[in-house]
Amino acid sequence: MSAAEKLEVIEGDITTLDVDAIVNAANQQLAPGGGVCGAIHSSAGPELAVECAKLGGCATGEACITKGYELPAKWIIHAVGPVWGGGESGEDRLLYKCYDASLKLAEESKLSSIAFPAISTGIYGFPAPRAAHIAVAAVLDYVRAAQEMGTPAPLKRIIFCCFGVESVQVHQAALAEHGHSH
Ligand code: APR
Repeated sequence: MSAAEKLEVIEGDITTLDVDAIVNAANQQLAPGGGVCGAIHSSAGPELAVECAKLGGCATGEACITKGYELPAKWIIHAVGPVWGGGESGEDRLLYKCYDASLKLAEESKLSSIAFPAISTGIYGFPAPRAAHIAVAAVLDYVRAAQEMGTPAPLKRIIFCCFGVESVQVHQAALAEHGHSH
């Protein structure tokens, strides 16, 4: 299966996806918020905030995992994206790290499917086209590295769950730039 055959770009509400893990665009305190974080907490139910509170926070660029509670997804991987500050303070590298850390955590947890929102492109203000390029690059790098290692990567489905047509278009454009169309 080629790297890109594992990748899907869909439009929808990530809280409805029946996958092993959905990724939350979290904050460093792992506290409930607005945007996709708000939607995930309201769909998962109040136990999620209780488990998050026990984790003691998460650094920008890092990820941690909790149960999915009342979501269809079994797990939630909370990734903390960078706040956009103009692009000169390492935002690109930190966003890349979010995707890479989430994929590594999913692999460690032996998950076979994961769905990402467009991390940092809402309240955190990261330009969507630039973010989509970084997201696709990080995911393709991860999948290709696993293939080169010959390790049978457990992840069979990696989904970009986009909220709105514009977000779908920038992710499809980013994939096309990497020589894959979806
Ligand atoms: N499903 C999928 N994507 C969604 C959904 C949803 N239900 N709701 C929003 N999105 C999209 C937004 O349109 C945006 O493209 O998720 C992307 C990320 O936007 P935010 O949720 O605002 O996340 P982010 O920009 O990373 O800001 C994180 O916002 O909610 C707080 O607690 C969160 O402090 C953190 C900050």
